Amino acid sequence: MSASKVEIFADHIYRHSTYIEKINLSFSQFFIRSDSGTLCIETGSRGDFPLLKANLLSAGIDVASVGGLIVPHFEDDEMGALPEFLALNKSLTTYAHPICAHALADIFSARTKLFKDETPITISGEVVIPIFAKHVHQWDALVIYVPRFKALFSSDIFMRFGSVDERLANPLEKMISSIEESGYLPSIEYLHAALMKIKKYDIEWIFPMHGPAILENAAAAIDGLIEYCVNKRVKETAEG
Ligand SMILES: [Fe+2]
Ligand SMILES: [Fe+2]
Repeated sequence: MSASKVEIFADHIYRHSTYIEKINLSFSQFFIRSDSGTLCIETGSRGDFPLLKANLLSAGIDVASVGGLIVPHFEDDEMGALPEFLALNKSLTTYAHPICAHALADIFSARTKLFKDETPITISGEVVIPIFAKHVHQWDALVIYVPRFKALFSSDIFMRFGSVDERLANPLEKMISSIEESGYLPSIEYLHAALMKIKKYDIEWIFPMHGPAILENAAAAIDGLIEYCVNKRVKETAEG
């Protein structure tokens, strides 16, 4: 069984999420509205597109109005529905890490712009800062910081199993068990490096692609994961 819904944060951030009970995992796509357009972060998979389109329309967003699309890495849940977005808006521009952007242009003939690491750029009227997160868990991985909302769209970092509705006073334990259970991270070293880059930003909200948003104590979640990485590395070194 799966269930989908749209939720709105700060009047401008729309999260479409689908929870798949069989794998106990949710998948989210984000749409940010500004005065001059709609920006999308993560498309979801192709198979889920009809539902995404219908649900968003009920919430007042026509997918055809999306002018800028950010692909955090080349994977089906992050960019699978790109052909459907393109079919509705031929002038859509995609934004990605250079490795990913070249693939999107070549395979889908999408108009692409290459992100530069930690270099602000305005997309559909919204200033965003891409933060490259190499090898977490793909080589072209990145996360997006949106200063207007002090919000981090963290793709596969800070993910956890369960529905987006699960409220935990301290989500850290569940995030760590989700990392260990899924085995999706090839390197604690690279996760640590990405978290240290992320930590520099003034972050109040974290919107992972999988699992609930972190709307309180975001700094504690970042610090807690950094501590986990450090301890894990010490343990791995000791075990040799
Ligand atoms: Fe991924
Ligand atoms: Fe993912």
